[in-house]
Amino acid sequence: MKKVGNHNSIARKLFLGFALSLIFSLNSFAQEVAPDAAVADAAAAPAPASGGDAIKGKELFNANCAACHKLDAKATGPALRGVAAKYDTAWLYKWIRNSSELIKSGDPQAIKIYEEYNKSVMSAFPQLSDADIDNIIAYTSEPKAAAPAAVVAGAEAIPGAAPADSGMSNNIILAALALVMIILVVMLFLVNKVLTTVAKANGIEVTPKTPTTPIWKVFVRNQFLVLISSIFLLLAGAYFVYGFFMQIGIDQDYAPIQPIHYSHRIHAGSNGIDCKYCHSSSRVSKHSGIPSLNVCMNCHKSIAEVSDTTATPEYSKAFYDNEIQKLYKAVGWDAENQKYTGKTEPVKWVRIHNLPSFVYFNHSQHVNVAGVECQTCHGPVQEYEIQKQFAPLTMAWCIDCHRKTEVKMEGNEYYTKIHDELSKKYGVEKLTAAQMGGLECGKCHY
Ligand code: HEC
Ligand code: HEC
Ligand code: HEC
Ligand code: HEC
Ligand code: HEC
Ligand code: HEC
Repeated sequence: MKKVGNHNSIARKLFLGFALSLIFSLNSFAQEVAPDAAVADAAAAPAPASGGDAIKGKELFNANCAACHKLDAKATGPALRGVAAKYDTAWLYKWIRNSSELIKSGDPQAIKIYEEYNKSVMSAFPQLSDADIDNIIAYTSEPKAAAPAAVVAGAEAIPGAAPADSGMSNNIILAALALVMIILVVMLFLVNKVLTTVAKANGIEVTPKTPTTPIWKVFVRNQFLVLISSIFLLLAGAYFVYGFFMQIGIDQDYAPIQPIHYSHRIHAGSNGIDCKYCHSSSRVSKHSGIPSLNVCMNCHKSIAEVSDTTATPEYSKAFYDNEIQKLYKAVGWDAENQKYTGKTEPVKWVRIHNLPSFVYFNHSQHVNVAGVECQTCHGPVQEYEIQKQFAPLTMAWCIDCHRKTEVKMEGNEYYTKIHDELSKKYGVEKLTAAQMGGLECGKCHY
């Protein structure tokens, strides 16, 4: 009867384990549901009291006003949150449709703002109807505190955009696995114990282990095995040492941390900015070069922060915004008053690609003359959050491509004569860069 009791206890423990893990997973489920509830709450919050539609207003605001106005900070014009409380609606209609006319008419309020803002002129918007302006006012009247809260809750509700959440469920899965492992170990131990008890009860003698020679002694005595192992170890060692020496001076995948976290994914990818807009000298010279910060400021005078959708689980919006602040600090841009302070600190970009000085490489030859895409040599740069060296930049890599790549001859007069001569010499219609002399030492080495 004792045996049965023992089995029962194991089953009970097992059951307990599963129950525990079930509770765990239910718990996590409850936590994942929570943000949705928060969103529902936020949505249920009362809309601001004003005749207009704040959602339409936001669109209009972004399309017409965002170039000069922000809700909560000074830009070219004043912060606009709560303007409705400052002026009466009829005045706002007039001001927004044509502020200069209002100023000219001698309206004291209009003149006061105009002088306060160094007499900069606000564009006229005669095309906006009263309803449009009501919508914009509704948008600017939304209370500030509610907006960010809704955004945070909304972000959590988007699957995959919530790092904390997925990390949580990962941890729970790990914990559950660990629990199962522990249960298994305990079970094994118990089974062993039960079996021994059963054996004892039935009078079977459990033979104690007989001491045997340790495995390493057997190994050392067998000379053949020792020989084979040493050969294997030597070969493996040589392989790794060779590998180590071959990678000296090769920095493939080198991705240093830059002074400003500049993302090619966001600029060349999401915003589709052409590589040559920034690396403008790649077309005409040996070097592609890194753009000067003035090029950045062509856009960043008016882009002080990234949009909410740009944030990733890895990098928050606050992180990106702070990086733009670093750019402002470096060029000495005072975003508050929209002017340069004159205090600059040059940004020291860390150089990634670097051929030895005895090699000659020319960008314009490859990009312009040969028409090779940047991505062939630099990889899918438009996807890189952090820039890195994609190609090994070894001699074999250059030569390999010169052997394989056909030179584009059509429409290039420079090549017509060479082509005729060389294609006769090699007896082919198409020529590779190698056949054009791309393997001659002197072409790449000074
Ligand atoms: C070209 C830049 C520019 C654009 C575009 C612009 N504004 Fe302005 N806005 C200004 C400037 C500058 C001022 C400060 C007064 C001045 O100097 O004329 C101002 C002032 C204002 C004021 C007075 C605010 C206060 O607190 O005194 C309101 C209201 C306003 N703008 C609404 C709008 C609306 C609505 C839009 C979009 C339909 C818009 N603005 C588009 C530049 C602009
Ligand atoms: C908005 C400007 C801008 C655009 C557009 C841009 N880049 Fe860059 N690029 C930079 C800056 C700034 C750096 C230096 C910081 C870094 O390495 O991330 C850089 C660095 C690089 C480097 C590494 C340079 C080194 O140190 O060896 C390569 C390669 C490169 N870019 C290729 C490209 C390609 C290919 C594209 C188009 C798909 C492109 N870039 C588009 C600004 C730009
Ligand atoms: C053609 C316009 C343009 C130019 C030129 C440009 N940027 Fe940007 N940049 C943007 C836009 C647009 C965003 C915001 C993207 C978003 O909100 O999704 C941005 C975002 C950023 C950010 C935050 C995201 C990130 O990449 O970390 C930084 C930092 C930044 N830019 C730095 C630079 C620097 C440094 C340069 C010059 C080498 C530069 N930008 C040139 C348009 C530009
Ligand atoms: C045939 C291969 C190849 C192509 C195509 C190519 N590059 Fe490069 N790139 C290189 C090599 C090799 C280097 C290293 C040059 C050095 O160290 O002197 C380099 C370096 C760079 C650098 C670092 C600064 C410099 O000039 O040394 C930038 C930036 C760059 N490339 C951008 C571009 C852009 C943008 C394009 C497309 C318009 C492009 N590259 C096309 C091979 C290529
Ligand atoms: C993706 C292919 C590719 C890679 C990689 C490449 N090249 Fe080239 N290269 C070409 C092509 C195609 C031409 C022919 C251009 C032309 O029409 O003259 C060329 C031409 C040249 C020339 C001029 C040859 C002549 O006949 O005048 C030099 C020099 C050169 N490459 C150096 C290099 C070096 C150095 C590297 C490695 C760091 C390299 N290339 C990597 C494709 C490549
Ligand atoms: C297409 C361009 C190209 C041609 C042609 C070329 N080389 Fe190189 N060579 C390179 C590059 C790039 C490196 C640098 C490789 C590195 O840093 O790992 C290099 C490196 C070397 C080195 C230094 C050893 C090493 O691997 O780093 C020697 C020696 C050398 N080349 C000799 C030659 C000789 C001899 C020829 C003619 C038969 C020749 N090269 C033709 C591009 C070329």
